[in-house]
Amino acid sequence: MAPITTLLLSIFAASVSASIQNPSMSPAPPMGFNNWARFMCNLNETLFVKTADAMVSKGLLAAGYNHINLDDCWMLHNRSSKGELQWDPTLFPHGLPWLADYVHAKGFKLGIYENAGNMTCGGYPGSQDHEEQDAATFESWGIDYLKLDGCNMDLQNGRSYYEEFKYRYSKWHSILSTLKRPMTFSESAPAYFSPNFHLDANNTDWYRTMAWVRQTGELARHSDDIKVYSTLPNGTFESGGHWDSMMNNYGMQVRLARYQKCGFYNDPDFLIPDWLDLSLDEKRTHFALWAGFSAPLIISAYIPDLTDSEIEYLTNKDIIAVDQDALCEQATLVSQDGHFDVLTKNLANGDRLVMVLNRGNQTNNTVIPLERLGLDSGERYKAKDLWSGSSTTIRRGVVEISHLKSHATAILRISGAGRKGEKLAVTPTGMIFNTFSLNCLAASPASHHRSPISFVTFAACNAADAQIWRTLSNGRILSLNDDGLCLAAKEEKVIVTACSHDVTEAKRQQWSYGINGNLVNKEKELCLQEAEKGAAVLTKCGIELDSQVFGLPGGVTVREEL
Ligand SMILES: *[C@@H]1O[C@H](CO)[C@@H](O)[C@H](O)[C@H]1NC(C)=O
Ligand SMILES: *[C@@H]1O[C@H](CO)[C@@H](O)[C@H](O)[C@H]1NC(C)=O
Ligand SMILES: *[C@@H]1O[C@H](CO)[C@@H](O)[C@H](O)[C@H]1NC(C)=O
Ligand SMILES: *[C@@H]1O[C@H](CO)[C@@H](O)[C@H](O)[C@H]1NC(C)=O
Ligand SMILES: *[C@@H]1O[C@H](CO)[C@@H](O)[C@H](O)[C@H]1NC(C)=O
Ligand SMILES: *[C@@H]1O[C@H](CO)[C@@H](O)[C@H](O)[C@H]1NC(C)=O
Ligand SMILES: *[C@@H]1O[C@H](CO)[C@@H](O)[C@H](O)[C@H]1NC(C)=O
Repeated sequence: MAPITTLLLSIFAASVSASIQNPSMSPAPPMGFNNWARFMCNLNETLFVKTADAMVSKGLLAAGYNHINLDDCWMLHNRSSKGELQWDPTLFPHGLPWLADYVHAKGFKLGIYENAGNMTCGGYPGSQDHEEQDAATFESWGIDYLKLDGCNMDLQNGRSYYEEFKYRYSKWHSILSTLKRPMTFSESAPAYFSPNFHLDANNTDWYRTMAWVRQTGELARHSDDIKVYSTLPNGTFESGGHWDSMMNNYGMQVRLARYQKCGFYNDPDFLIPDWLDLSLDEKRTHFALWAGFSAPLIISAYIPDLTDSEIEYLTNKDIIAVDQDALCEQATLVSQDGHFDVLTKNLANGDRLVMVLNRGNQTNNTVIPLERLGLDSGERYKAKDLWSGSSTTIRRGVVEISHLKSHATAILRISGAGRKGEKLAVTPTGMIFNTFSLNCLAASPASHHRSPISFVTFAACNAADAQIWRTLSNGRILSLNDDGLCLAAKEEKVIVTACSHDVTEAKRQQWSYGINGNLVNKEKELCLQEAEKGAAVLTKCGIELDSQVFGLPGGVTVREEL
């Protein structure tokens, strides 16, 4: 253990060019192209040249998509006699330095793929124990971005699987930090500890990995790959599963909002605009949600054949501005009931973003009170529909979403109706949910209203007021139910009760939230825990326990220390 700790400390002390230590490495999430989901190992120079040309002619580069990234299978199966990685000269007849020059001349950056273990997922040479040499090779070729996968990890020096990942990615981080050429570091490590990867495992190592990749790179590929474009033996597109795959990655992303910060982005994988079994509404939903997350917008598609309607949504300036917003916030859930997901986030100019996803199978309507969006029902606001570009005044204190089609997403930018440039006063408001069980913290039903206190439980999320919480900067957490009772400790139980000004009482009503996802009560420094049968209790804080890690509304203060 000791040598690892020492190594990491020295790495952190020396490093200058990564992630949250240096947000200027990647002040906004990257946008661009990657071949994997669409072409997998069928990549070659012609594809990248045509892609770059089409990204220029179709306006994608001008819209901000300025990365061209290679994925696996670009290399030869053997290293050179000097031990260097070699591109496959059949696939890349002019070589990768030539390709780098070609795309650089057009204004793109070039990204490459390698693997932290000893073989890539596709069976090509991995970088394990060749890290310095491979970094130098990439630098000499003019590479700007490295996606480092995690297949075939050889466990060395008694390290566990988890420790080997931490060791290898940290080693890459320290090497990249010494290069003259800045290289964006996309880390796939968390995906190897994600709930879907290890079905029998708990989430502890996933969370722990998310915490350290945040110190060692710019991007966290945190869960499954988006389901690839595959064809049947007769060459026709294999339909099915792509919407579910996108929703799966969305469902992983919402659990990790607390980690995101300018310079470091959660990455739910590629946009897939030319998949034949996704409707235009579904593709637009994919784009809008990813933008609301300030996630990387990396397109995997055959760019030359993208249609005008696909290019139109991919280049929507207002939605790209949301993705690239200077606050880098990931939108978080206000509510979720199986029909609608409502998400919000703050924007740098003081506006508030609202997204409403219709997960149902039919066109539907919904009405969202302004309090749920962290706004004041007595104030005047206007809302800009970022799809149509039209603005309307918000009336009667509610945002009305009408005729939202199945699997479509409404995306609105809310600003003050008064003075221009006015920053909205926002109270972070929304679900508090266990990111393992996905159950929501719920105040007791209103039938208990006359009792002075009510207990709090965990229950399936249903978008009721009792499951929506306002988080104040003084550490108070108020239910939207019952005229705003405060979440409080009572012995080892958690209750909602009248908010108090008494000093001792106040500590029982104060909570702090950490990067580890723990919600800690100030009075006894105990952690909120989802216990048996949905009971909400207070217990000693453990290390990233499934029962103690929660997602809170975005904008709440997050303690950095673990
Ligand atoms: C290059 O790759 C594309 C996409 O897989 C393929 O359609 C094309 O035939 C390949 N071209 C060459 C010259 O290999
Ligand atoms: C690659 O290297 C292995 C041994 O490391 C050797 O057996 C094999 O022939 C080499 N393949 C090629 C194509 O050079
Ligand atoms: C990679 O590591 C695995 C697991 O330890 C080992 O079995 C294999 O021989 C190694 N392969 C190479 C090419 O080093
Ligand atoms: C969860 O995973 C961690 C890390 O692998 C392990 O230490 C812990 O025992 C596991 N907890 C349970 C309850 O299985
Ligand atoms: C290709 O195969 C699938 C599945 O067998 C079949 O449904 C489809 O009609 C075939 N398409 C063509 C063009 O032959
Ligand atoms: C939509 O339809 C699918 C497939 O028929 C079903 O599994 C799902 O539960 C439905 N969703 C809703 C919200 O009704
Ligand atoms: C519309 O959504 C509501 C929940 O907000 C749900 O109760 C209702 O069944 C949905 N209607 C349709 C037609 O899906």
